[in-house]
Amino acid sequence: MINCRRQDHIYLLCIICTGFMLLTSIFNVIYIVQRSLSNNISEYTQTSPSSLSMKQNIPLNKSEAIFVKKKDDHFEKTYQTFLHSFIQNYLTIAETRNLSLTYCPPVPPDLQGPLKVNEVPKNFSITTNSSYYTNVDIGGSYQPKTCLARHKVAIIVPYRDRWDILTHFLYHTHQILQRQQLDYRIYVCEQAFDKTFNKGIVMNGCFKEILKLQPNVHCFIMHDVDLLSIDDRNMYTCPTYPRHLSVAIDKFHFYLPYATLVGGVLAMRREHYLLVNGYSTNYWGWGGEDDDMHARIINKHLKVERPPASVARYKMLKHTHQKLNPARMKVLRTAHIRIDSDGVNNVKYKLLNTTFYHLYTHFLIDVGEQPK
Ligand code: UDP
Ligand code: BGC
Ligand code: MN
Repeated sequence: MINCRRQDHIYLLCIICTGFMLLTSIFNVIYIVQRSLSNNISEYTQTSPSSLSMKQNIPLNKSEAIFVKKKDDHFEKTYQTFLHSFIQNYLTIAETRNLSLTYCPPVPPDLQGPLKVNEVPKNFSITTNSSYYTNVDIGGSYQPKTCLARHKVAIIVPYRDRWDILTHFLYHTHQILQRQQLDYRIYVCEQAFDKTFNKGIVMNGCFKEILKLQPNVHCFIMHDVDLLSIDDRNMYTCPTYPRHLSVAIDKFHFYLPYATLVGGVLAMRREHYLLVNGYSTNYWGWGGEDDDMHARIINKHLKVERPPASVARYKMLKHTHQKLNPARMKVLRTAHIRIDSDGVNNVKYKLLNTTFYHLYTHFLIDVGEQPK
């Protein structure tokens, strides 16, 4: 429990936080009791109105169901609404709680350098609270406890239908971000429905939704779900120019395949993301949207930085391949003329659902219909 003293200048904040903790505890107790009374996974179905219409009454196995809830679970909805309003209204105040601390050192002291990728323990779950990552706050956020973070970062993970990979990503990545002493939150941005993937719309929609929740985030890391950093000296921060972090991937024998690649993991300041107008929304299926992003960056007179390949190393988890976009090269040829008219300033999407899980904030995004 927080130690509230009347003379403390954060007294008010203390009261709010304590109230929130009490309410959360009450919700948690009711939640646990409810869950234990009806803990049958086959009774669960997906939350979004879209998925409901697609999958209603079809039993889901765990790997299919990213957002599972019991039908008519009004309680959980109320809980999520409560969390949403708390995070939206009080997060900014709560974020000032560390003002009395001094800044973290410029070089985080606990970095380990090269890392092993460990197997995910059997009892590790990304949706329910567990004994893992008890220091992570609801929605997958974290702030160093002993010093004031120098960087406030949102990790944007485009996602669909790669449950085991997402589990591994979260298990592996939280520890790295913590050792880097960042103030971060992981956002998993899932494209709803079984339609052609459009990474640009998912990214831009997610970017806009993050700014509604956390208007003061200045650093965005766009992160493929299947890439695991294998050296924690590769900092998840946003320097002067956009920085391509996934330079050396095992799948490409630890060589950058071509000089203009910015796919995989890309760090960008908020103002640069807005300057280049985010990602193009015209790439449906695999390939091209990252090359288009590179064209945007150069066109707006920015540069792409890269850390040394000896540090910017990644393991790519094996996954199924999505449908190639046969039109990608044709679309790419017009990249320079679409920059200001195709991107985050006019992206069309519907946010179907927001859920705050222990290890991530989830946005379910409908990207609409692919033009014929
Ligand atoms: N992605 C996903 N599900 C899909 C397609 C794409 O989660 O069906 C996301 C995921 O983050 C993935 C990224 O988009 O890492 C890039 O897609 P993919 O891995 O298929 O392409 P690659 O970069 O491996 O060529
Ligand atoms: C595609 C990119 C992809 C890269 C590496 C290029 O041909 O256009 O989207 O990231 O290959 O796989
Ligand atoms: Mn991949």
